Amino acid sequence: MNLKRSLVFAAFIALGAVPILTASCHKDHSNPTAPMTFYDTLGGTAMVNDPAHPGTMIEKGRLGLRTVVDSAIFIIAGDTAINGYFTVLLSEVGQGNLSGFQALSKNLTDFLCVATGAKDFAYTGKNMTDAHNPSANARINMKVAGDDFDEFVVDVAASAKKNGLTDAMISRVGALLNSLKTTVVQR
Ligand code: HEM
Repeated sequence: MNLKRSLVFAAFIALGAVPILTASCHKDHSNPTAPMTFYDTLGGTAMVNDPAHPGTMIEKGRLGLRTVVDSAIFIIAGDTAINGYFTVLLSEVGQGNLSGFQALSKNLTDFLCVATGAKDFAYTGKNMTDAHNPSANARINMKVAGDDFDEFVVDVAASAKKNGLTDAMISRVGALLNSLKTTVVQR
């Protein structure tokens, strides 16, 4: 399988039938006084069918974030400005090995779930400093430059737009990512 076909395949597996994200006012009903989090705005804990795993359910907020993450990985893989950081991943996928893609999808989704206020998930990956330091993470080729960070945010925003997030939600995602810039950018 060539690289492009492999990536299409990976995205197909990951996304299933791409759901269109809609805003929701669902919130934590176990604690009605809790303020509405960004995760709630994205759909929160309402259970919906998981299109990537027929017969299983997933929180709507998590599904929305996972959809944005998987589609962002696909966009970044085709973005020659920054895909040079991801050659380990691209080489694996090119050989039909999706394990690294699935691990990255899970870690990024967990990270964003927690960062947006989800209560039912935990992030178990590397901290943001180690994840983006080639000395601590052999899966990244080099330390991230500031301009490349900005391009990454552009790609994530494009993914969010493609998957139906409103401009207000996209701004919130952008602000969240940008708040981590000084940790991720290490040169
Ligand atoms: C705020 C923005 C970002 C967040 C929240 C983020 C988050 C993450 C997370 C959670 C991981 C997985 C860590 C693990 O495996 O334990 C990761 C890995 C990685 N990140 Fe980032 N990241 C950000 C920005 C960037 C940027 C700007 C680049 C490069 C332009 C980048 C390149 C990578 C690479 C190459 C990996 C390894 C991928 C792999 O496992 O194959 N990240 N990042």
